[in-house]
Amino acid sequence: MRDLLNAATEHAADYFESMSERPVGARMDPATAREALHSELPDGPVDSRKVLDDLVADADPGITAMGSPRFFGFVIGGTLPSALAADWMASAWDQNAGLASPTPAAAAIEEVTGGWLIDLLGLPADSSFAFVTGCQMAHVTALAAARHRVLADAGWNVEAEGLIGAPRVRVLAGEERHVTLDRALRLLGLGSACIEPVACDESGAILPDALAEQLAAGSGPAIVCAQAGNVNTGAVDPLDAVCDASEGTGAWVHVDGAFGLWAQTSPARRELLRGHDRADSWATDAHKWLSVPYDCGIAFVADAEAHRAAMSAHAAYLQQGEPVREPLDWNPEFSRRARSMPVYAALRSLGRSGVAELTDRLCACAERFAERLGELEDFEVLAHGLNQVLVRPRGDDSLTDRLVAEIQRDGTCWTSATTWRGRRCMRISVCNWQTTSEDVDRSLEAITEARRTATGGGFSAGGVG
Ligand SMILES: Cc1ncc(COP(=O)(O)O)c(C=O)c1O
Repeated sequence: MRDLLNAATEHAADYFESMSERPVGARMDPATAREALHSELPDGPVDSRKVLDDLVADADPGITAMGSPRFFGFVIGGTLPSALAADWMASAWDQNAGLASPTPAAAAIEEVTGGWLIDLLGLPADSSFAFVTGCQMAHVTALAAARHRVLADAGWNVEAEGLIGAPRVRVLAGEERHVTLDRALRLLGLGSACIEPVACDESGAILPDALAEQLAAGSGPAIVCAQAGNVNTGAVDPLDAVCDASEGTGAWVHVDGAFGLWAQTSPARRELLRGHDRADSWATDAHKWLSVPYDCGIAFVADAEAHRAAMSAHAAYLQQGEPVREPLDWNPEFSRRARSMPVYAALRSLGRSGVAELTDRLCACAERFAERLGELEDFEVLAHGLNQVLVRPRGDDSLTDRLVAEIQRDGTCWTSATTWRGRRCMRISVCNWQTTSEDVDRSLEAITEARRTATGGGFSAGGVG
């Protein structure tokens, strides 16, 4: 066991040490990886050390350095050393963290970490929480609590009766909401057709007057879904005004704060979220901004009773000793890993000031990208908010895709493409704990060079000096 784990540690350390110079992107496409990694199930056992070494050698060319300080695709965080080490311990201890009494330490760490997050994210002190796989499952968890409350207020017990025959639930959400919200509503049986899209401004932030009008135009149980951090533009909905519009209507307000909720951790940026603590539930990720390994999202609910009513599970064989906070009463999962441990380690190793520094640095790096690209005639910056930048090379839409492909091929950094309001754009998402202004400058050089290559070496209005 010791030799094998030491070997795994060596492989992991080699990987991290290679990070600053290896190409950020994978050196294989999915079809080649499938071919290279295809093998028959062995008829008998294979030595564990050989299994490990082969896995590393075979997989490495198909691994993207998503933890690189110059990986800017999607919204993907890296992993802090403290969080990775604690995650290894969570795997080594292999606790089933669904129940408290068989694993009191895992349950206590979950409670401590939940409390720290509530404090750090500026949420009501007695909010309940659940550590789930990601922000989408945090939506499922929080919206199950919302579904419970708005239907209970309408005299319907959804946990007992299901949704057949239930009053129809309206969900009012910005037209630029994240796709995972729709899927969460589908999983909850509310269906995506229950969504009434609300108009947004140019940046993708909800228009509160449109929301108020739409709320007034209908009746019955309602859930309002706001967003802190649009995946393309970084825009934050005006949360105070969203809560004003919803107040007195009986609507539940849920906030998708997958990454944007972390703005609260910086005294310089928390004004952006003003009013967020007036909402009823919040969903966020720890595997993005906080830099813990996949997978970890967190749901928070102000109405703990609704949360518990939506999630709790009882069986005689589960009850061991005195009743305590049983994690499985708050989660959609039954058995699960001790997901809070790496979050605990990340928060302890950074402290309040370290998280604020991280927040400010990621936002400052995105600002630097936006400013420098905005100075170049060849590029048009369409939006910039928090740690996100939306930019396109001047030219037709196909140039954006050629540019992104060239950036990925070059390997200095990694960006991804998107369609925003009908135009192909490039997204730059700064979400790695190691990214510095030097990484931004090195990436800017690569991006301007890639633009030259993507246009066939044509005229460029100026490099990055
Ligand atoms: C705004 C927003 N909401 C939800 C999600 C989904 O998060 P997860 O992939 O952790 O489920 C994302 C992912 O990027 C996001 O940006």
